[in-house]
Amino acid sequence: MQEILEQLESKRAAARLGGGQKRIDAQHGKGKLTARERLDVLLDEGTFEEWDMFVEHRCSDFGMQDNKIPGDGVVTGYGMINGRLVFVFSQDFTVFGGALSEAHAEKICKVMDQAMKVGAPVIGLNDSGGARIQEGVASLGGYADVFQRNVMASGVIPQISMIMGPSAGGAVYSPAMTDFIFMVKDSSYMFVTGPEVVKTVTHEEVTAEELGGAISHTTKSGVADLAFENDVEALIMLRRLYNYLPLNNREKAPMRPSADPANRMDMSLDTLVPENPNKPYDMKELIAKTVDDGDFFEIQPEYAKNIIIGFARMEGQSVGIVANQPLVLAGCLDIKSSIKAARFVRFCDAFNIPVITFVDVPGFMPGTAQEYGGIIKHGAKLLYAYAECTVPKITVITRKAYGGAYDVMSSKHLRGDVNFAWPNAEIAVMGAKGAVEIIFREDKGDPAKLAAKEAEYKARFANPFVAGARGFIDDVILPHETRKRICRSLVMLKDKKLENPWRKHGNIPL
Ligand code: COA
Repeated sequence: MQEILEQLESKRAAARLGGGQKRIDAQHGKGKLTARERLDVLLDEGTFEEWDMFVEHRCSDFGMQDNKIPGDGVVTGYGMINGRLVFVFSQDFTVFGGALSEAHAEKICKVMDQAMKVGAPVIGLNDSGGARIQEGVASLGGYADVFQRNVMASGVIPQISMIMGPSAGGAVYSPAMTDFIFMVKDSSYMFVTGPEVVKTVTHEEVTAEELGGAISHTTKSGVADLAFENDVEALIMLRRLYNYLPLNNREKAPMRPSADPANRMDMSLDTLVPENPNKPYDMKELIAKTVDDGDFFEIQPEYAKNIIIGFARMEGQSVGIVANQPLVLAGCLDIKSSIKAARFVRFCDAFNIPVITFVDVPGFMPGTAQEYGGIIKHGAKLLYAYAECTVPKITVITRKAYGGAYDVMSSKHLRGDVNFAWPNAEIAVMGAKGAVEIIFREDKGDPAKLAAKEAEYKARFANPFVAGARGFIDDVILPHETRKRICRSLVMLKDKKLENPWRKHGNIPL
């Protein structure tokens, strides 16, 4: 017995030491935590239950039979985040560069399978040199096994990826299929082909950071959601995000009691929208003044800034917020913003999180770049997402809701449950000036007549009452009572039931 216990302890010690002190020091030297230190920050203290510490690779080529480290480069198991269950895997760069072997992949698959059975999210901390080169196709098979599980888990349990080191080649596709990707600045990168290959094929000279660093992916590609200064900040923010999410698609969105009164009025909102309809204002001010304690967890804040997405709480309940941002491109919808918001709406819908939409949209962005880029197809994604969404949907039109964009932004016609407008809302096919220039084209040379017609059009359509007369909006509300009216609506919608017809899956325009 004593002998077994000693063997156990020595195997555990070897697993904990990973690739050895020298490599741990090198990891720290790069400003990175080790796989285990990361789990210590991510999980509630003392809650981590580790699995498969004794798993070793089965490769015997290239001298690998004499080079085995218990755990094989990934630490897996489950624990708690603020008392709520989560499954985790954390790749250990000190062990063969965190490279994925067949056995390493099996460990990841095991936690994913268990997470699916019990209905709890999976968080992956990625720090890996990619497929274990010595193993060849066995490791590629391992990747595909993980990918398949990512797809099966999509929409069933939340999946979150943290990129904390390299993630290149096939390794990018598991994170790509998860719901959220966080990255750490200067120490993580993601790309399909690295700078050397890029140089050979396209003759572009680019650093790894420029090609696939946290800044590039959160500002240019939109692949990642948020970029953080270091491992600790990233992990702490991941804990915050976790609090907004249900554990699986059968649970309701979580509640966290708040002392912020549901009927809190904010008089300053009455003057938020400028008199001049062409003047912008900051939609984030409305969000901050409406949600519990002004606490808004924004997703993709640096990408497609003309639309704002993120999580907040109303009377303690998690909600997803989607809002046009008049400060950027006048709040127009374009390719990037449509995709950004569509994916978010679909996440909320999959996980029972009500969607609140603040609308101030002058339309879709015109131009060849948008048309050739496929704005028709990409704009349709947002339309599709809202139309298929069955969670409670509350919409507030703060100013403009023009044209097709009016329809898209969670309108009554797309089964919006509660649709409000502020008194100065303009719900019309287009702005008065543009409308008059088209309808009264023959009066082009008569500015006085055009001005009169413009005023007439404005008086007739630039208000919320035409839509109100048809029941397309349920009520015109005063800006200062926005929070109260949304909170009441959410209470009313608490037990909403709506199902789409059975189908294998829809065919969202991709
Ligand atoms: N398979 C096996 N071992 C790997 C590996 C892989 N894919 N990637 C890294 N390693 C090992 C290295 O051999 C090294 O081992 P050692 O500590 O015993 O010397 C260790 O991991 C650390 O790698 P190193 O290259 O020293 O780290 P780095 O920070 O300088 O560079 C990478 C990191 C990822 C850029 C670099 O290791 C690399 O290019 N790896 C190969 C990437 C790849 O082509 N993967 C396969 C396609 S998916």
